[in-house]
Amino acid sequence: MTSPPPLGTSPAPHATETVAVIGAGSIGIAWAVVFASAGVHVQMTETHEGVRESALDEVEAMLTELSDAGLLADPVDVLRARVTMCATLEAALAGADFVQECVIEDVDVKRALFAELDRLTDRRVVLASSTSTIIASQFAEDLPGRERCLVVHPANPPYFLRVAEVVPAPFTSADAVAAATDLLTRIDLTPVVLHREIEGFAFNRLQGAMLREAYCLVRDGVISPGDVDTLVRKGLGLRWSVIGPFTTSELNTRGGLRRHAEVLGPVYARIGVERGTDDPWTPETIEHVAHQIEQRLPHPTWEENVRERDLAMIRLASLLRHFDNPLATPAPAVTSPL
Ligand SMILES: NC(=O)c1ccc[n+]([C@@H]2O[C@H](COP(=O)([O-])OP(=O)(O)OC[C@H]3O[C@@H](n4cnc5c(N)ncnc54)[C@H](O)[C@@H]3O)[C@@H](O)[C@H]2O)c1
Repeated sequence: MTSPPPLGTSPAPHATETVAVIGAGSIGIAWAVVFASAGVHVQMTETHEGVRESALDEVEAMLTELSDAGLLADPVDVLRARVTMCATLEAALAGADFVQECVIEDVDVKRALFAELDRLTDRRVVLASSTSTIIASQFAEDLPGRERCLVVHPANPPYFLRVAEVVPAPFTSADAVAAATDLLTRIDLTPVVLHREIEGFAFNRLQGAMLREAYCLVRDGVISPGDVDTLVRKGLGLRWSVIGPFTTSELNTRGGLRRHAEVLGPVYARIGVERGTDDPWTPETIEHVAHQIEQRLPHPTWEENVRERDLAMIRLASLLRHFDNPLATPAPAVTSPL
């Protein structure tokens, strides 16, 4: 088996060369690391003086960890030199082609900052927010340059989870979306563009659905919190790293996703009603999903695709054999219900 290439690519012609990262908390630092690793220059700024002073050390420490794991194409000092910390917002924005906002999750703070970003930058500069839940319409709607504003929501941490949601507002231009997806592709993150704005986007809505049920199960004394984590970590999560939930439905049931919906749809509908959500899967949606998932599978028959799934999972099991997870602590002997 050949090793995948390390992070980092040669810059494409006319690609974004400099990104301004605003806010140097955990997401700002992580973005700086991912951008710098892929050859992009980063100009950071941050309002908190202590954070401003320590941020570059954090960037360097994270780069060193990644380098020690063999994940970087260039030496740490070369990548570290691509990141600068600026004392002011104006300095961070000077010469930047793209802005990645990473300040606290507060709509008023983001609204005030985007007004400044819109005022201080040329209209060709894309203004992206890392927000986890807030739609761009809530903080950019009234801006003269709103057409270049959108959400680029990373999964945390982006050097490990290499996917980001791109969420345009109704007023966001196609050019801004294209610039965001181009940049993400260049830094080796897969962009997932949502068709319309929705609070929480897709990532956190999916996560929220699971958390809602997990809290109910713990509240009702069905399972301990630690065992919820174990079921997801060793079960659902690991499977989902190879095939997502729809492909799981397609390949786990002989007869595919349509048969899965026939057999398990009524059970999930009853569970939904039990939790106050009466949203059964409609035949049209099942058909739409089945059709789309079928198109994405590599082989023409169910049996061949199941075999491919099994082989992929065996390969992953082999890669994980030597992974000693320090966070996988054994469950306590006795767990008490609430
Ligand atoms: N933490 C996550 O798992 C995660 C994942 C994806 C997206 N996000 C989003 O990323 C954003 C940042 O999250 P975080 O976890 O890094 O938060 P954080 O609290 O760790 O960092 C935010 C930083 O922004 C700074 N700041 C506040 N106002 C500022 C301003 N006007 N200019 C410059 N700096 C300013 C703060 O001092 C702080 O250091 C949030 O919108 C969050 O929802 C977070």
